[in-house]
Amino acid sequence: MGAPQKTQKQLPLRPAGPDTVAALLRWYEAERRDLPWRYGPRKKADPYRVWLSEIMLQQTTVKAVIPYFQKFVARWPNVAALAAAQLEEVLQQWAGLGYYSRARNLKACADAVVRDFDGVFPRTEVELRELPGIGPYTAAAIAAIAFGEKATPVDGNIERVVSRLFAVQQPLPAAKTEIRNLAATLTPARRAGDFAQAMMDLGAEICTPKNPSCLVCPVQPDCAASARGIAETLPIKAQKLARPSRFGIAFLVQREDGAVLLRQRPEAGLLGGMLEVPSTHWGDASPSKREALRSAPVTTSWMAVPGPVVHVFTHFRLELVVYRAIVPVDASFTLWAEQDRCRWVHRRDLHAQALPSVMKKVIAHGMNAE
Ligand code: ADE
Repeated sequence: MGAPQKTQKQLPLRPAGPDTVAALLRWYEAERRDLPWRYGPRKKADPYRVWLSEIMLQQTTVKAVIPYFQKFVARWPNVAALAAAQLEEVLQQWAGLGYYSRARNLKACADAVVRDFDGVFPRTEVELRELPGIGPYTAAAIAAIAFGEKATPVDGNIERVVSRLFAVQQPLPAAKTEIRNLAATLTPARRAGDFAQAMMDLGAEICTPKNPSCLVCPVQPDCAASARGIAETLPIKAQKLARPSRFGIAFLVQREDGAVLLRQRPEAGLLGGMLEVPSTHWGDASPSKREALRSAPVTTSWMAVPGPVVHVFTHFRLELVVYRAIVPVDASFTLWAEQDRCRWVHRRDLHAQALPSVMKKVIAHGMNAE
């Protein structure tokens, strides 16, 4: 009989716990991203800056947020300054960042902090959650980062890190509760803010959705998914339904003096209170020309601009065909019923308006057809 064959011994895996957290925090001290709303490590940040950054970072990347954050804090350095601003100004400064209800809630929250809390942000997750625009994730992030409370914000990045650390096999979204509970078991009583931000940085830079850099990961020795070679496959996601499409016709009316007709959207709902190029209803099918002309803001002769403008919102894809018309300054025509919500804005002033990206695309598309 030959010598017994050597089998490769697998090191026993230490389940993620306090030592994992300590390794993560050491890594964070050395490698953390230098972001304009951060102070740490080991320091508590300015609650105003933390709150502002967390609202801006909802559904938006760090890279996109940085210039907006800097513009906002330069103009409104504290919550009292923001509360004293006009909503219109805030919406204008927000234009391009998307999800505009955040800007309205931002202003409403600044007003509430000044009115109800003497301009000092409340410190607990529970109180923070009562404020406009602050949901469970944002409340936990602010409580941990600004006030050092033992709170556990769990966003998509942290969900991914935790699902890999513990090799969670249940698909999302059903796995959310389990993941949140596991994340909470890791949150340290001290330095909860650094822990949350370290998890965010790990998710953004190392534990990425594709090609995670397990070889340089500070918590790889404790990662159940990495040990099984399945890190990239997690988290498992339940199949999503396809995003529906909606269709409409947008009416770009230009006056001969260069002014463009804009309409304010209703306060509630998608792009609430922002300006828009008037359009038909956005429905499941493209309206016929006859139907469209019934919603046209003026009676004039229209030119259909070739090719639709396509914009993808979170819950649907929108295709807008642009009809364009040039009207004389003194022409007598009747603006239809919604005239109270309409205004003329000169094209040189368009950049300063609260115009969402989709409407900027519509105007550029229509004007380029000149
Ligand atoms: N995403 C959400 N909050 C964040 C933060 N504080 N730092 C980096 N990315 C984030």
